[in-house]
Amino acid sequence: MIKNLEINERLEKYISDHSYDLHPIQKEILIHNNSLGLSKRMQISVTQAYFFQLFIKLNKIENILEIGTFTGYSALSMGLVMPKNGNITCLDINKKTSESAKSFFKKANLDKKIKIILAPAIESLKKLKNDKKIFDMIFIDADKENYKNYYNLSLELLKNNGFILIDNVLWKGDVIDPNKNDKLTNIIREFNSFIKKDDRVEKTILPLGDGVTICRKI
Ligand SMILES: C[S@@+](CC[C@H](N)C(=O)[O-])C[C@H]1O[C@@H](n2cnc3c(N)ncnc32)[C@H](O)[C@@H]1O
Repeated sequence: MIKNLEINERLEKYISDHSYDLHPIQKEILIHNNSLGLSKRMQISVTQAYFFQLFIKLNKIENILEIGTFTGYSALSMGLVMPKNGNITCLDINKKTSESAKSFFKKANLDKKIKIILAPAIESLKKLKNDKKIFDMIFIDADKENYKNYYNLSLELLKNNGFILIDNVLWKGDVIDPNKNDKLTNIIREFNSFIKKDDRVEKTILPLGDGVTICRKI
């Protein structure tokens, strides 16, 4: 069997150094997040962001919903490659990190394209559904306890052939460790099994960052 690569921090940096240059505001967010200590781990990896950007361009995505924005690295990375008429709706519950995100969006001139709705995401998703909003792509990256709810509500907000991307589905590799039986690991395992059986979507898991599932709505 082919031995797969383990992407450690040095390799992640090598990939980053050999991809296109980061935008100055992406760099600023990375520096800001580094200064936050442990919560820096919330942000998607630089390699994930490169992949999301290419994915958005290839699929000509114009309209994105992000569930879980933190200080804005994923949303800003996606916003940078979207067309002029493109837009991102971000859902988050944290006022402080959302203020930082907003200031980064403004600095990058993306504040018209990227808006944050500050409320519990389930509430916002229900409101978006009432308002009959439809998205080309939805990125789920908030509290894991609600992943299944976010996923089910997202399917109702997604156009046919649209995509749902979900972060942290390999959970540091703990999903395959029989000694790990804490609440969150089991939630992720149960969620992955649920998606596997869901015939409303085609799906695959990519070993990028902490693991990303990509679903296409059939
Ligand atoms: C992993 S971070 C998102 C990281 C972001 N995508 C990035 O790459 O920088 C998760 C975010 O979900 C938000 N969150 C947690 N529970 C939430 C809820 N019930 N409703 C809305 N947002 C929530 C947190 O405030 C946090 O900013």
